[in-house]
Amino acid sequence: MINLRIISLLLFTCIGLIACGSDGGHQVDKSKLPDKQEDNNQQEKLTEFTPVTVASLKEGVDFPIGVAVPAGNYGSSILLSEERQNLAIQHFNQLSAENIMKMDALHPTQDTFNFTDADNLVNFASNNGLSMHGHVLVWHSQTASWMRSFTGDKQAWIEMMENHVTTVATHFAGRLKSWDVVNEAFLDDGNYRNTGDSGSIWYQNIGAEFIERAFIAARAADPDAELYYNDYNLSSSAAKLGAVVNMVKDFQNRNIPIDGVGFQMHISGNYPGISAIKAQFQKVVDLGIKVKITELDIRMNTAENLDELTPDIAEKQKKRYYDVISAYLTTVPSAQRGGITVWGISDVDSWIIGLYDSPDWPLLFNAEFEGKPALQGVADALAEFK
Ligand code: XIL
Repeated sequence: MINLRIISLLLFTCIGLIACGSDGGHQVDKSKLPDKQEDNNQQEKLTEFTPVTVASLKEGVDFPIGVAVPAGNYGSSILLSEERQNLAIQHFNQLSAENIMKMDALHPTQDTFNFTDADNLVNFASNNGLSMHGHVLVWHSQTASWMRSFTGDKQAWIEMMENHVTTVATHFAGRLKSWDVVNEAFLDDGNYRNTGDSGSIWYQNIGAEFIERAFIAARAADPDAELYYNDYNLSSSAAKLGAVVNMVKDFQNRNIPIDGVGFQMHISGNYPGISAIKAQFQKVVDLGIKVKITELDIRMNTAENLDELTPDIAEKQKKRYYDVISAYLTTVPSAQRGGITVWGISDVDSWIIGLYDSPDWPLLFNAEFEGKPALQGVADALAEFK
């Protein structure tokens, strides 16, 4: 229960945080030092959570404010949870499917598509005035097992992939505002994801042209949907974003359709720094296409070894959310805002929980579905800069 009253403020000695994380949520990068300046700004230790008075995050915002939600067979499916439904409708104007529109979910065998769960979610969204961001047409992860054991020459692989993209995008045509067409095709060093544990069957069997082929097929199937390239660590890795920028320029030169870049932004409380985030957004703004924060969450327990979220860490998270949203709004002009999506409603549902040994609280609502100070941080930034 968040007590809305501040009882007292205690002086404490600020100890600098000593670890930080990558933007991907995939690996913790301990080589990067935190921004000491930010830590030193906080001289007082809170004993109570600061007030949260947000009626509706999306109120007065003219771009997508989204949230990823579980559906289908997931126990935490939004379609089975009144609390999650209420928060989604109150605060957001767009949904992403956290899992049920991935390749394995929609295309379980070569000859069958299963659209039931996704249709139920899309219907829920449209019945409640929410738009949908499609996630995701082509990705190396959460592919169907039949895809991984598919055999055939390059042409057969192209037809197999294009059939997936065309069938799925056609099925949802006119009902989704946007699609993540290709997810995570590059490594952090800017090379294409190829072999290894998290290699890409698409790159291995088709080569780099799988990306443009997916965009061309998606545009043909659903001409009105905005088409995004989506990846992690784009707000921190100059090499990775550089590769994406070069790809977009090449697409623009050759009239391959692409409308925006999705920055996943699974980040931590102190990395990457705000000036780096702004500089990375700016590189996509300069291409004249949209910038969308597609999967925002902010881990706070990368070094502190906490068992529970403390008021002072919640306050740091509030400031961090405020700073990230402010960076987006001050860098990306209105016409190029694809929107901001958080990757989950409640901390209890966050994928981050299963990813690291320590507990964490990366999202805007706590286990009781109450707004955290982080929610206030997002609302404050939106009110100031939207
Ligand atoms: C995650 C989901 O949140 C988890 O429930 C699932 O087990 C694995 O995938 N980048 C993406 C998302 O593009 O699809 C991932 O979602 C998180 C990282």
